Amino acid sequence: MNTCVVGLQWGDEGKGKVVDILAEKNDIVVRYGGGANAGHTVVAGGEKFALHLMPSGAVRKEAMCVIANGVVVDPEVLIGEIDSLAARGISLDDRLLISESAHTVLDYHKVEDRLREDALGKNKIGTTVRGIGPCYSDKVGRSFAVRMADFNNLDALKEKLEKIVDYKNKIFSALYNAEPMKADVIFEKCKVYSQRLSKYICNTTEYLHTNIEAGKDILFEGAQGALLDLDHGTFPFVTSSNASSLGLGPGCGVPFNMVQRFIGVVKAYTTRVGSGPFPSELDNEIGQYIRDKGHEYGTTTGRPRRCGWFDAMAVKYAAKIGGINEIAMMHLDTLAGLDELKICTGYTIDGKEVKMFPSNIDTLAKVKCKFETLAGFKEEITDAQSLDDLPPQAKEYLRAVEEAVSLPITFIGTGPARNQTIFKKQV
Ligand code: GDP
Ligand code: IMO
Ligand code: MG
Repeated sequence: MNTCVVGLQWGDEGKGKVVDILAEKNDIVVRYGGGANAGHTVVAGGEKFALHLMPSGAVRKEAMCVIANGVVVDPEVLIGEIDSLAARGISLDDRLLISESAHTVLDYHKVEDRLREDALGKNKIGTTVRGIGPCYSDKVGRSFAVRMADFNNLDALKEKLEKIVDYKNKIFSALYNAEPMKADVIFEKCKVYSQRLSKYICNTTEYLHTNIEAGKDILFEGAQGALLDLDHGTFPFVTSSNASSLGLGPGCGVPFNMVQRFIGVVKAYTTRVGSGPFPSELDNEIGQYIRDKGHEYGTTTGRPRRCGWFDAMAVKYAAKIGGINEIAMMHLDTLAGLDELKICTGYTIDGKEVKMFPSNIDTLAKVKCKFETLAGFKEEITDAQSLDDLPPQAKEYLRAVEEAVSLPITFIGTGPARNQTIFKKQV
């Protein structure tokens, strides 16, 4: 049985926690998209791990970890993660594979991300400045791309980098009056990346298919969330990859029909980091309550996350385009203490019903939310181990969300730790 876990909102839904839980019963965990813009948190045995490139299954010492071709790898971040996990007694030595076709994020990508964002001023996307957009642009552009395989041929890479850096310097200087970058400095870093990473670089597509044929269970870990998907999200306030489950096939060479279970992760409310429309946003004391109680500050950049009510229109859309069969709802505990809870169950524009979440931001900016209001619950639920331990209002909230999104909720998060989870279905 192969499983894919993806976010159904604007990222940070709690994918890291869900992947860590499922990794216990899977042999291989695969990241197939995004890069170090992702920040996936795992809390296990009282320890907290924030992972950016390493699959969240890394925390389980038995799981094989694959970084597939669709990921844009920042080697510096990856080496940092390998080292910091090793320092905590978690070795990746014999259980990490990195696709030779994965593109690499180098210094000039991060510089370009920052220069572009600064130049956009108030119109900026609000990126994580991890060089993601510039690296995916180079991937599509082809001529100036560096892939993991290039670390196995340093002479050719040196020549390539000279051309790339020369080209980038001309652009950065002309457009932004920026200081030139030095190809030899970047090349020296690449020599270290090559030394440290070449033993992991291989054909991950072959590895995955060989293991699927051998009957292994594979868990695919999405990054970001469906509403940040380049094609189906709130463009241009999106990331530069297919962050819904649609990125799976291109991102690792395993087709949709080889995956039996698609789990969509949501929060019991909605959050968003960066710019862009957010219909159910709570720019008030309730939003602040959720931010404080849920510790809603970015795992990657530390920025405060914008908070709002659960948006069933958005989640229904994300589930439809992603072929989702079931929902894992995290952070139910964060809603404790609120007098009433609201679910956005529909949109109208000028009084007319909107059928489907519009990813076009001009349309989305015009929608008005229709809310269903439910009673809140006062009791903390962080110790709840089963549905029976939940207050009736919390159970009613879950039922209302299931009805609004027309999908079953199979996992419920009641706190950040592995064991703060209620299972309605076998893992
Ligand atoms: P990801 O990017 O989807 O993996 O999510 P992040 O790790 O960026 O953000 C989710 C945050 O919520 C992390 O700090 C998690 O430890 C935390 N978290 C996950 N599930 C729950 C939950 O059910 N309740 C609470 N209170 N925190 C949770
Ligand atoms: P995880 O995997 C939340 C957002 C950024 C910005 C937009 C573009 O942890 O859920 P980028 O750096 O990708 O060019 O930024 O996308 N973004 C995320 N928001 N969680 C993430 O990842 C994100 N990855 C990118 O905040 O709005
Ligand atoms: Mg995150």
